[in-house]
Amino acid sequence: AFEQQVTEDYLFKIVLIGDSAVGKSNLLARFARNEFYPNSKSTIGVEFQTQKVMIKGKEVKAQIWDTAGQERFRAVTSAYYRGAVGALLVYDVTRRKTFDSVARWLDELHTHSDMNVVTILVGNKSDLKGSREVATSEGKSLAEDRGLFFIETSALDSSNVGAAFQTVVREIY
Ligand code: GTP
Ligand code: MG
Repeated sequence: AFEQQVTEDYLFKIVLIGDSAVGKSNLLARFARNEFYPNSKSTIGVEFQTQKVMIKGKEVKAQIWDTAGQERFRAVTSAYYRGAVGALLVYDVTRRKTFDSVARWLDELHTHSDMNVVTILVGNKSDLKGSREVATSEGKSLAEDRGLFFIETSALDSSNVGAAFQTVVREIY
């Protein structure tokens, strides 16, 4: 019988972090399953999905971890970050409070993982044009100051969702 050889050249662990309700779980649902949940509940504990990403003709597997932004719903923090080589740090462009939290999330990330973890700052909910509280230029300049990649996304209308994950995987690779 002919058996196809499956070669999994790379498996990268990527973590989603950021305040509650910024859209972490919906970014993952959009990326991995092309789904969106208008009324999703807070994540409890840890979930992860493995997703194939093609980089320069090679299949790369990204294992993307998702947990709650709220402290009381979170599992053991050190285990969540252990072995991560990439991170999406998400805020909500319609809630400045979530942007103000970015520095705290970076501290936590750097406490629990390698300093070299490839990190992209993600301003989500770009579809909500009427209620924006954080300008694109502010996100961009914070990312520059902290040496992060930057992108604005919408899990609702899909814009830049693939690009956000692909940027991280490409830079790790
Ligand atoms: P926690 O699990 O509590 O940390 O939250 P989360 O960051 O996973 O947020 P979640 O994905 O559950 O989304 C929170 C709410 O925002 C839900 O009602 C989503 O439908 C909504 N939402 C997520 N992404 C977008 C987006 O891009 N645009 C709009 N308009 N709403 C979004
Ligand atoms: Mg969630």
